[in-house]
Amino acid sequence: MSKIGIFFGTETGTTRLIAKKIHKKLGDDIAAKPVNVNRSSLDDLLQYDALILGTPSYGEGDLPCRRIGCLESNWEELLAQFDNADFSGKRVALFGLGAQERYSDRFASSLFRLYEAFKGYGAEIVGGWNTEGYTFEHSAAVVDGQFVGLVIDQRTQSMFTDERIDAWLAQVKPLLLEKFAAPA
Ligand SMILES: Cc1cc2nc3c(=O)[nH]c(=O)nc-3n(C[C@H](O)[C@H](O)[C@H](O)COP(=O)(O)O)c2cc1C
Repeated sequence: MSKIGIFFGTETGTTRLIAKKIHKKLGDDIAAKPVNVNRSSLDDLLQYDALILGTPSYGEGDLPCRRIGCLESNWEELLAQFDNADFSGKRVALFGLGAQERYSDRFASSLFRLYEAFKGYGAEIVGGWNTEGYTFEHSAAVVDGQFVGLVIDQRTQSMFTDERIDAWLAQVKPLLLEKFAAPA
C-alpha cells in the first residue's frame, strides 16, 4: 500500500496522542490514520511496506500487555498472534513513550522489546534517536549509544515533543517514502 501505516499500543491514551500528531504532521496523503494494536491483526500491518510503530513503557521493560497489569490489550497480545511473521523488505520506524524521572532506571525500556521483535521478523529498522536532552540512569532502548527510535516523555518534557517529532520525521520520512516511491 502506498502509504505509511501507523500503529500504536496505549493504556492511558498518550501514545495515541503522539501517533495522531505524527499522522497530522505527515498528512493524509502519505500516512494512514493511526490504529490501536488492540484492534489490529498481522495482516493489517503487512499491508504496508513502511510502518511507524509506537509503544508506551510498562513493567520491567516488558512489552505492554494484560499479563503485567495493563487493562487494555497491547503489543504483547498482538505479537502473540504473529507465528512466523515475515517483515523482510519492510522498513519500520519506532517511537516510545516513557517517564524519565519516575522510571529513571528503565526509561522507555519497552521500546527495546518492540525493536527486538520486529528486527526478529526481518524488518529494517530506521530512525535511531540521540539520547541528548534526556536525564535517566538506564534504558534498554539505548543500543550502540542511541535510542532505537524516537523517545517522548509527555510527563516531564512535553515542551520538547513537537520539535522532537519534527526533527525525527525529517530524518525518517524520506527513508519511509523510499519504500513506495515511483521508480524514476
Ligand atoms: C504502572 C506504570 C508503569 C510504568 N512503567 C514505566 C517504565 O518502566 N518506564 C518508563 O519509561 N515509563 C513507565 N511508565 C510511564 C508511561 O510509559 C508513560 O506515562 C506513557 O506516556 C504512558 O503511555 P500511554 O498513555 O499511551 O499508556 C509507567 C507508567 C505507569 C502508570
